[in-house]
Amino acid sequence: MTLTQDRPTLAASRNDLPTWWRNAAVYQIYPRSFADANGDGVGDIAGIRSRLGYLAGLGVNAIWINPWYPSPMKDAGYDVSDYRDIEPVFGTLDEADAMIAEAHALGIKVIIDIVPNHTSDQHRFFVEALAAGPGSPERDRFIFRPGRGEDGALPPNDWQSCFGGPAWTRTTNPDGTPGDWYLRLFAPEQPDVNWDNEDIRSEFLATLRFWFDRGVDGFRIDVAHGLVKDSALPDVGDLPFPLPEDWPDDVDHPHWDRPGIHEIFRTWRAVADEYAPQRAFCGEIWVGRPRRLAAYLRDDELHTAFNFDFLMCPWLASDLRTVIDATLATHAAVGAPATWVLGNHDVCRPVSRYARDQRLGQPMDRNLVHFLGRPADLDAGLRRARAAALLMLALPGSAYIYEGEELGLPEVEDIPLDAMQDPTVKQTFGADPGRDGCRVPIPWDADASGNYGFSPAGASAPWLPQPSGWGERSVSAEQGVPGSTLELYRSALAIRNAHPALGDGDMQWLDSPADVLAFSREPGFACWVNVGPEPVALPADAKVLVRSGDLTADGALPSDTAVWLELG
Ligand code: GLC
Repeated sequence: MTLTQDRPTLAASRNDLPTWWRNAAVYQIYPRSFADANGDGVGDIAGIRSRLGYLAGLGVNAIWINPWYPSPMKDAGYDVSDYRDIEPVFGTLDEADAMIAEAHALGIKVIIDIVPNHTSDQHRFFVEALAAGPGSPERDRFIFRPGRGEDGALPPNDWQSCFGGPAWTRTTNPDGTPGDWYLRLFAPEQPDVNWDNEDIRSEFLATLRFWFDRGVDGFRIDVAHGLVKDSALPDVGDLPFPLPEDWPDDVDHPHWDRPGIHEIFRTWRAVADEYAPQRAFCGEIWVGRPRRLAAYLRDDELHTAFNFDFLMCPWLASDLRTVIDATLATHAAVGAPATWVLGNHDVCRPVSRYARDQRLGQPMDRNLVHFLGRPADLDAGLRRARAAALLMLALPGSAYIYEGEELGLPEVEDIPLDAMQDPTVKQTFGADPGRDGCRVPIPWDADASGNYGFSPAGASAPWLPQPSGWGERSVSAEQGVPGSTLELYRSALAIRNAHPALGDGDMQWLDSPADVLAFSREPGFACWVNVGPEPVALPADAKVLVRSGDLTADGALPSDTAVWLELG
């Protein structure tokens, strides 16, 4: 049932460009949930290899694989215990090498995830740090401090974990008495490293080289805006984050987006630049201020960064237009390509996000918790997600597709509490349903056996339960079906790979009704997206290349529908 590799040459020819990363349509593989070859209910590298033909047929230019390193899996692999090996649940280093070679043979670049803000508490460095005790060089690789209050019983400051609760964990001394605290902005098993420490700096540079030498084409950098902390560790108090756009640059948050980060990434860029073909970075940078994001994208720093403003933007024409304009202007100022992203393994899937009232009384947030209990119109959500896909793939720059988006998968919102795996759930005592709903294993087959084709027949249950009806959105149910979301993505990516107007470059807004986003790209291409409630007329002389839904009987573009046009 694997799709044949029918269009690799188009995707591959884009990848022959030295600046492939300025154009790439990147497919995100969450390895636990993509394809399980050995039947243990967890996806693996052998599963990815078996589906590379599908990805080539889909027409993506690159894959980004979430962490595949040895890990106690306290945060689904973002707690890395060895950055230069493969987690046995996922496979072996030999299999990773083979996968990289096979992807390259199909014209697909390989980006992997690096986690430099924190390690696992089982990483050799942290084990050594605990054993060595206060004041040791081993402890200096992390951020240990005595507590406040009587007997140091209170955390060193008021910083909060992104997963809920205080950002500090107290150690126990060898004699059993309570010891110093260590900083961990995420789970207790994810100690933050100290980027002022030379061992840390050289260790990560060596890791970059290790994987570049194996042929990896780039890294997605986890929590790239978090590496540097104010070493005085002041309280955050009521300082907001993101800081408001109009605040002066000399106001800094004590642990996000600090100026010292840029110097670190310059050393990373110098390593990447030693390699040919060009290696590239994409930063996970949640700063909420376009000009601060662009600061990471200067010539000698990161190549690209995720555009989370676009991801978080409601489905409203004026908001989308504002985000697109701000993105293009700030990226142009530093000569970097924009990226466009609708979803990932941390956020509510776009179908379910767009299914909610877009005029919420609060800014759109990325997490499911903000949508729970709000009425959902999943048909509208799917229509909008499909239109958003055409918008994203037509905008200048590169684009990211999270596995399952090409199937129109919704968020799974009814995972039983006892089946949830995300540490956010535990750290908020269940108040936040976390991110498991977008991580449910992919349905490859309409037939429910073998976990809807995620695993071989007779396999263990999948690591997260799949909902009944998952098969209706499976690859086998959608492949070859005109109008399916899978075929929409395949058509759009094929056009994107072949059309000289698409990928990197410029765009011009066209005159259109206020609820419509219409823009052209040279030569001869236009994208129209109707975000409003009423159908709108399309230019009379244009040929439709691909559309996210049917046009009206008289050829108008209906509500929540997008179209790509070849202009005469
Ligand atoms: C990033 C990852 C997320 C992880 C966190 C801590 O935000 O995308 O999945 O939990 O970093 O590493």
